[in-house]
Amino acid sequence: MTPPLDTASPEQDLIARAHTVLPAGNLGNMNVETVIRSGRGGRVWDVDGRGYIDFLLGSGPMLVGHAHPEVTAAVQEQVAEGTTFFANNEHAIALAEAIVEALPCAEKVRFVSSGTEADLYAMRLARAHRRRDKILKFEGAYHGMSDYGLMSLWPERPGNFPQAAPDSAGIPRSVRDDMLVCPYNDLATAQALIREYRDELAGVIVEPMQRLITPVAGFLQGLRDITAEYKIPLIFDEVVTGFRLAYGGGQSFYGVTPDICTLGKVIGGGFPLAAIAGREDIMAHLDRAKAGEDGFTPQIGTLSGNPVAAVAGLASLAILKRPGAYKRLFSIGNQIRAGLDAALRDAGIEATVAGEAPMFDAVFTAGPVRNYRDTMGGRPALSRQFSSKLRERGVFKSDNKIYVSCAHDETDVGEAIAAFRTAAAELRV
Ligand SMILES: Cc1ncc(COP(=O)(O)O)c(C=O)c1O
Repeated sequence: MTPPLDTASPEQDLIARAHTVLPAGNLGNMNVETVIRSGRGGRVWDVDGRGYIDFLLGSGPMLVGHAHPEVTAAVQEQVAEGTTFFANNEHAIALAEAIVEALPCAEKVRFVSSGTEADLYAMRLARAHRRRDKILKFEGAYHGMSDYGLMSLWPERPGNFPQAAPDSAGIPRSVRDDMLVCPYNDLATAQALIREYRDELAGVIVEPMQRLITPVAGFLQGLRDITAEYKIPLIFDEVVTGFRLAYGGGQSFYGVTPDICTLGKVIGGGFPLAAIAGREDIMAHLDRAKAGEDGFTPQIGTLSGNPVAAVAGLASLAILKRPGAYKRLFSIGNQIRAGLDAALRDAGIEATVAGEAPMFDAVFTAGPVRNYRDTMGGRPALSRQFSSKLRERGVFKSDNKIYVSCAHDETDVGEAIAAFRTAAAELRV
């Protein structure tokens, strides 16, 4: 039932309605009571008409900007031709070709609809390939919302390594036995765990850049070397980093090739599409004829390889592939990042800006920020306060990340930095 519209503004009305029909009054994502009506380029507008510089970018997919004319035209053309078929379609095949061409690890591609699914299947493929059960992940790494992904994702009271702990109600106790947890950027511990559990390990999953924490020199290569030594599949979760740190993803940016990677966000151009891409012999477990009954991992999804999402992804990749696209993205990102750093420093606030130019944010700690436990000292309440003050000043972001798009320009840089300065000066530390 729709409640009476007796509140102050269209946004307030919608918020009241949302609270009657949505748990927590939201879609499970942004906890903020802003209702977005539209987006164009690097900006969004709420239903009351307030405009914001958008550093949320739909949580990352809108790397080329909202409503990019080329993406919109491709989508409109496809919508008129039919929106989903379940059968093979030309655009999904072309998108798989583009992924194979771009990413060093990608020999074969399977599409799904979300990063959560991609990570779940990637871990299952590793299990099928190795015929073992345990997966090693890094504390604080985000691999979606499956039972496995939710182990030691954001523990408030982290335990002893390598014991994994669930960060959600409803996860079977048995899942603890199948996950091992290691501190990110700690190669010696990872090597020791991989050696100790080598006969039980199915795979190692890692975000090449874990949230905003960049890998220390030699960490990813060290993981590559030891997993290769024991023939344990190494999975890069590139749902965020894919086509963002570089056209060839985190694996090209950091120069380390995993066995499998997962992709999402950018490759769907703002539509639900994600993928698992990797070595032919591992991906062959998705092919009953090659894997046999014993090794086959069935994988079906109603909207997998959806043609509308595929054309949106293809149009986005075509834009990103143009000469200078990443140079400009990094230049704008670095200007915003430097402005954020200076604003906080000038306001006398202890903070470390972590990340790379296309995605970064302030962690409110003196640093260094090398793993999840370092970020725990980062005063999340201060991050929330800063984001909220920025929103009041027309900058829209999550509490822990600034995503920069190719559509952001020098005007956005100037306005964002002015907002950083005002918000930083007002922070109640
Ligand atoms: C690194 C990483 N992996 C997986 C996911 C899950 O993707 P999705 O939200 O599409 O399920 C996310 C989502 O933000 C992510 O950041």
